[in-house]
Amino acid sequence: MKRISSLQTPSARVRSSRPSIPSSMNQTLQDLMTRRSVRGYSPKMPSREDIETICRAGTFAPTGKNTQCPLILAVTNKELRDRMSRLNAQVMGVDSDPFYGAPVVLVVLADRATGLTPVEDGSLVMGNMLNAAHALGLGSCWINRAREVFAMEEGKAILRELGIEGDYIGIGNCVVGYPAVPPRPAAPRKEGYVRWID
Ligand SMILES: Cc1cc2nc3c(=O)[nH]c(=O)nc-3n(C[C@H](O)[C@H](O)[C@H](O)COP(=O)(O)O)c2cc1C
Repeated sequence: MKRISSLQTPSARVRSSRPSIPSSMNQTLQDLMTRRSVRGYSPKMPSREDIETICRAGTFAPTGKNTQCPLILAVTNKELRDRMSRLNAQVMGVDSDPFYGAPVVLVVLADRATGLTPVEDGSLVMGNMLNAAHALGLGSCWINRAREVFAMEEGKAILRELGIEGDYIGIGNCVVGYPAVPPRPAAPRKEGYVRWID
């Protein structure tokens, strides 16, 4: 049902123009291979249900020894979103919006105190969420510099204001929304990406 109703979304129009993947391939594999980074969003807020589903998919990522050390901040609050955007831009030394206008920012943090492999665990959470957003017909993109932002005094202040305690490291920002621009086509996969040793 979801897929049929999402055919009305702009991202679904973008999706239909993508190169076709063999139809014999199951939907999960098709989604993994057709997800692309979207770098321009409409201000329209995705539904709460979709955002929750994306986050939930993130929580099912594997974690080393199942510590589940990552934490997802599902930010739809415009004031906080804009504040994080400014900090991110400051790290980059620009004054544009590094979140490309996306109304949702899913910040992944990971607790170094409880995790054995916090960066790996948080990165898998990010990957699940990027792919889940695409599977729902939404656009997404990994936006870097979460590590620097949450190592800054103002980044730490945000966590304190939210009542978040722990030895958190910023892993990534998964921005989500309705695409306003089509994504760039996938670059060709490099020669020798997979080496067989039989
Ligand atoms: C760790 C990491 C950091 C990234 N940081 C950014 C970023 O700050 N801004 C951005 O536009 N894209 C960022 N990306 C997206 C990559 O540029 C993108 O995945 C790559 O160009 C391949 O394109 P595709 O995602 O469409 O396949 C990042 C991706 C990863 C994995």
